[in-house]
Amino acid sequence: MTIKIRIRNLDKFYGSGARRTHALQNVDLDIGAGEFVTLVGASGCGKSTLLRTLGGLEEYAQGSISCNGKPVDGAGPDRAMVFQSYSLYPWLTVRENVRFCRKLHFHRDDSTSAGVEAASGRADALIALMGLGHVVNAYPSELSGGMQQRVAIARALMVKPDVLLMDEPFGALDAQTREVMHDLMRHLYLLEQTTVVFVTHDVEEAIYLGQRVVVMAPRPGRIDSVIDVPFGRERAQDLKLSPEFTALKRHILDRIRETSGMKTDLEQLNKLSGHLHTAGELA
Ligand SMILES: Nc1ncnc2c1ncn2[C@@H]1O[C@H](COP(=O)(O)OP(=O)(O)O)[C@@H](O)[C@H]1O
Ligand SMILES: [Mg+2]
Repeated sequence: MTIKIRIRNLDKFYGSGARRTHALQNVDLDIGAGEFVTLVGASGCGKSTLLRTLGGLEEYAQGSISCNGKPVDGAGPDRAMVFQSYSLYPWLTVRENVRFCRKLHFHRDDSTSAGVEAASGRADALIALMGLGHVVNAYPSELSGGMQQRVAIARALMVKPDVLLMDEPFGALDAQTREVMHDLMRHLYLLEQTTVVFVTHDVEEAIYLGQRVVVMAPRPGRIDSVIDVPFGRERAQDLKLSPEFTALKRHILDRIRETSGMKTDLEQLNKLSGHLHTAGELA
């Protein structure tokens, strides 16, 4: 496996003094070229921090990150990001939004008409692939959340990024739309053969999409375990009902519960209700 992203001994803090947060502690992770890795864990465990640091949007004090063997130092066109909020330009149509960053790139002095044409062709192909053909001239405000997110993904793919970094991109969508987006995402991934790092708090989503699931734990933010997903490239929704899938989901949910302190809370609750019960019997 060719290593696309290499993370070593990464440590990251926010704030200082009493307000200091240890957002990432000693994170070590290799991500292979063409791999689909999902990051999952309780809120506050550093998923977004890790992804943003990979994207070059956060500085890091200790450790190293490299992409294609080069140290990550700021954002770059080799790493495209998609966030939960659709972040489209409201004054541009769907087609203009998808073409936007390519336009910037191609409006340099050395741009050629052949290059611009190829980019337009790619934009139209991505728009068709995303099922947006009938809304190319619509504005974002005229589209559903699912449609807007398809535009955002198409735009991210325009530059043929080496790595696609996604932070809960389907978090704001309803369950049915999310399922459709999952299958679309798998399809796109197989087609584009890009490396994907995908953050979610939804364990089912993490397993269905990923080849490996990185389970993170909070306080300090760290990697708890990395789990190989034993399912092949072609996946269908029925997979979620299989015993293997549900067992894996149970295992990951247990890890998250255990490492985030939620389990202890439940034990406390049980004890408390035990006390209440006894008190009730005495009364
Ligand atoms: N810009 C910031 N300034 C200060 N603290 C932050 C900032 N961003 C995140 N944090 C803190 O760092 C920790 C990890 O946050 P985050 O990466 O957003 O977690 P996740 O995405 O897993 O919910 C949390 O404790 C959060 O409050
Ligand atoms: Mg987050």
